[in-house]
Amino acid sequence: MNVEARTTILRDARTGASRLAIAGFGQTRAERAAAMVARIRYPSSRFEHHLPRWNGITGWLSARQGARLFDLARGLDAVGEVVEIGSAFGRSTVALGLGTRARGGGKVYGVDPHTGGIGLAQQYGPLAQSFSSLGPFLQNIVRFGLEDVIVPLVLPSARAAEVWPGRPVRLLFIDGWHDYDECSRDMLAWGRWVSPGGGIVVHDYDWAEVRRAVEDHLPKLGGFGAIEAEDPNMAVVRREAQ
Ligand SMILES: C[S@@+](CC[C@H](N)C(=O)[O-])C[C@H]1O[C@@H](n2cnc3c(N)ncnc32)[C@H](O)[C@@H]1O
Repeated sequence: MNVEARTTILRDARTGASRLAIAGFGQTRAERAAAMVARIRYPSSRFEHHLPRWNGITGWLSARQGARLFDLARGLDAVGEVVEIGSAFGRSTVALGLGTRARGGGKVYGVDPHTGGIGLAQQYGPLAQSFSSLGPFLQNIVRFGLEDVIVPLVLPSARAAEVWPGRPVRLLFIDGWHDYDECSRDMLAWGRWVSPGGGIVVHDYDWAEVRRAVEDHLPKLGGFGAIEAEDPNMAVVRREAQ
């Protein structure tokens, strides 16, 4: 699960060049055993059924946050699709995809150029540009049998918004580039498609720039209620049903 634990800097002995390698999936023996027990103990309509296996996906989401995304994707009763900005290795995408499948149908559009996030860029500098999360992301989709649910859009979110065919969105999850300008763009370009009764979830809401972007732009979208942030790192806000 932990990104740091799965990150290696590989050095080419001949050229001396370094590159970043991050494993997209990995499970301990205990996790594999727990996964078998969970599959027997819980129905697939509950996140607990998937949790120990899902924990094998590298990413930034806590188990509680994964469960929240799963429950929203399964239960949020509004017209439209699920859109995610920022998929990385698919930790959040798979939670959304499993919830959507438990609901009985629908798609999850995962928007990401797969070039890495602001956290990696801050930590590893230019090295962070030397990898792509796309291969492990696709492997994780296949691993969870979600090929018919998840639609990867390998584009930056601004470009994806330009080509989005204007379909309503019942759940928008924002976890892309975490600075004020990019978050503002995500809120405005995608928030407008959220249908009545639908919702927006913003990860890393406790980052000052992310929070400011949400608070500045949410009122412009119209019809959204109060921000729920009982988990200070993840905000949920719903558009009133008409
Ligand atoms: C924090 S990671 C996402 C984590 C992921 N949601 C998870 O559950 O582990 C941020 C991701 O945003 C992506 N990203 C960066 N710029 C982006 C942009 N302009 N549009 C969409 N995604 C972007 C990065 O490639 C990176 O994979």
